[in-house]
Amino acid sequence: MTDAKAVVLRGGRVVSADGEFDGDVLIVGERIAAVGDVEAPPGAQVIDVGGCLVMPGLIDNHTHLSMPFMGMMSSDDYNTGTQAAAAGGVTCLVDFSIQREPDQLQSALAEWQGRAEGAAHVDYGFHMAITNANEATIDDMAAVVEQGVASFKLFMAYKGELMTRDDAMTACMERARDLGALTMVHAENGDVVDLLVMRALADGQTNAIHHALTRPEWVEAEATSRAARIAEFTGASLFVVHVTCDAAAAEIQAAQARGVPVAGETCTQYLVNTIDDLRKPDVEGCRYICSPPLRDARNHDALWGYVRRGILESISTDHCPFTDEQKARGLDNFSLVPNGLPVIQHRLAKLWDEGVVAGRITPSELVARTSTTIAHRFGLTQKGTLAPGKDADVVVWDPNAPRDYGTHTSFMNVDYDLYDGETASGSVRHTLSRGTMVYDNGEIVSSPGHGRFVRRATAFDAEGAAA
Ligand code: URP
Ligand code: ZN
Ligand code: ZN
Repeated sequence: MTDAKAVVLRGGRVVSADGEFDGDVLIVGERIAAVGDVEAPPGAQVIDVGGCLVMPGLIDNHTHLSMPFMGMMSSDDYNTGTQAAAAGGVTCLVDFSIQREPDQLQSALAEWQGRAEGAAHVDYGFHMAITNANEATIDDMAAVVEQGVASFKLFMAYKGELMTRDDAMTACMERARDLGALTMVHAENGDVVDLLVMRALADGQTNAIHHALTRPEWVEAEATSRAARIAEFTGASLFVVHVTCDAAAAEIQAAQARGVPVAGETCTQYLVNTIDDLRKPDVEGCRYICSPPLRDARNHDALWGYVRRGILESISTDHCPFTDEQKARGLDNFSLVPNGLPVIQHRLAKLWDEGVVAGRITPSELVARTSTTIAHRFGLTQKGTLAPGKDADVVVWDPNAPRDYGTHTSFMNVDYDLYDGETASGSVRHTLSRGTMVYDNGEIVSSPGHGRFVRRATAFDAEGAAA
């Protein structure tokens, strides 16, 4: 038997969700062995991380790699997407597997497993998106949970493609409740969106801004409230994805005040971009088309407030990139533009500047909202904390090493960068996944296939572990 390789990250500032201190991190093999004042074992590799923050690797619980959507495929696959993740300090992501056959969830899971296996640079899990909830599908949910997929997603929008109706949503939530699984919703009233889109197009309102104008805030707030009421009725645990505005977050707060087990996330772009980005000319405006849409800037402070108070408990990216060529399909009709933004690489840098440097959150809150809370919510029991026995998923962040945004520094497989021309005040120096260096000073140094599928725990597993 060979001794496992040891690595010491020496002299950094260790940040956890609870606080920060000057210290070292000892990694042995794939696990954290010690944190604090650490003596390097003989033969250990010692990496000087003085002046840097040492944090648990970020987790992105909301990504769409190789997603077939609106007749296209999102442009990052598991190889390029997880390289970009690692470059952004992300060591684990949970992607959406999407039901495509009427009755089958397991075949969808097998399809997504096939895409990821041998390709990923960081660890990954899956949520299962149910798009056709008949009896056979609902029966299939148990087998999916047994395979380590502990959350189901329902789209309340994208009528005719992904949308679930309320009766099916209720039945899925009941089944998820019985399995100890989490139900996630994309909350927009798809019927109303469809009506407003048809009216806008009939009036000749075809450019990108009308995407946002036909999906007003109340449409998201109404769907959020409806999902929360159904969760209240069923007793299911609910997670509202990509909350964009004060009105929708207020519905989550109200449900929480009634004792309903509802949590929510927002995404980086809803904290830093605005509806005005969709007014940019030509394909540039189309790049910012996502659903729910970017909102008025007055929502930023409100969202940060919900994040600080934990009503929005986490921040993900909803990474779903499409190239300019793909986006240009809807230049004359916004409803044909594939929805989604390339963000996976930029969450840490953006939240550092707009959150920590701007004085809105502390480094510990950043860790909580981008890693630790996500690990707890999604049953990633080995992730999200730098503690002995946990996976050695670590990001070393240098707050004094500025880095330009742009396609020249991006690993995302898109031909533009939403933040081109801007400079982040700090940058990722190293990303380690289970003790292996994946990203090192601007370079990806791992091979596809290092990343592994992670089985996730259900609420029942967590109860068993606590008992
Ligand atoms: O526009 C978005 N958000 N695209 C990805 C699919 C989704 O709704 O999450
Ligand atoms: Zn969505
Ligand atoms: Zn999404």
